[in-house]
Amino acid sequence: MKEQLEKIKSQAFEALEQAKASADLEELRVRLLGKKGELTAVLKMMGKLSPEDRPVMGQLANSVRAAIEEKLETRKAELAAAALEAKLAAEALDVTVPGTSRPLGHKHPMYIALDEAKEIFIGMGFQILEGPEVELAEYNFTKLNTEEGHPARDWSDTFYIKEDSSILLRTQTSPMQIRAMEAIKHPPIRILAPGRVYRKDEVDATHSPMFHQIEGLVIDKGITMADLKGTLETLVKSLYGEDSVVRFRPHHFPFTEPSCEVDVQCFKCHGAGCPTCKGEGWIELLGAGMVHPKVLEGCGIDPRVYSGFAFGIGLERMAMRRFQISDLRLIFENDVRFLRQF
Ligand code: PHE
Repeated sequence: MKEQLEKIKSQAFEALEQAKASADLEELRVRLLGKKGELTAVLKMMGKLSPEDRPVMGQLANSVRAAIEEKLETRKAELAAAALEAKLAAEALDVTVPGTSRPLGHKHPMYIALDEAKEIFIGMGFQILEGPEVELAEYNFTKLNTEEGHPARDWSDTFYIKEDSSILLRTQTSPMQIRAMEAIKHPPIRILAPGRVYRKDEVDATHSPMFHQIEGLVIDKGITMADLKGTLETLVKSLYGEDSVVRFRPHHFPFTEPSCEVDVQCFKCHGAGCPTCKGEGWIELLGAGMVHPKVLEGCGIDPRVYSGFAFGIGLERMAMRRFQISDLRLIFENDVRFLRQF
């Protein structure tokens, strides 16, 4: 019996040593110490022993049981520690591994150009103003000295929203002149109003039914054409360099008198004529003029006291010149291969 007990002990220790998970230990515990276990089976034979052997074997059996129990506990703790170790290793976070970088977008080239223009005008004391794209015909035309029947109001050029022609998608940012005068009321007024405008144009390299303008308006006592010229020259030179050459050409707009168009000398050929400027040597940049007295009067500003100038810049054209983009469509298509270049 003694040998049997010794054998049970040594086999138990070996099995416990080899156990790989706590489930294995539980299985072993039942097999070794349970009611139907090996040790119990041996103990059941105690009755057959002589009275003097019985206590000796009993003691031995108990010590074997205690040894197995102790070994079980040790192995249990070891396996739990190993499991925790493995779990920690698997879940470990290496803070020194470089992160996944998220692609970062950037400003659209047209908005880069717009922000540059805004900076320049803010530096000259202008206030930035925005207004509705769905506009009253009264603001887009009538109050801009463009009465009913004027060809500019034709249905073939303008997206009207209402059958009676009273509401439309603004064809220019000039209604912001009216809105600025009505909102600010008392000169001095110095505003810059960028935004979308709409015209019934087919899409090509230089046209789009939706494009952007920047409207400028200055009203104060004693404002003259010289102020207009100086302001626009400052803009062009800050945008395109001190050596840019600007040209003022007489033109006509219903809401300015006198009116002009402003060209800048072609950056490619410097006036000689090339494909970029269509052989002209000059690139048209904006329309401008002195605010018509009728427009001032209609907004409650006395033209005998105050005068002012206004201008409207095509923003796409400005961005195209700034970044030497040859086709207007590139600005709207948002092809990332194009956009990434800026
Ligand atoms: N609104 C005019 C256009 O769209 C431009 C302009 C603005 C002209 C302000 C004079 C004064 O062509």
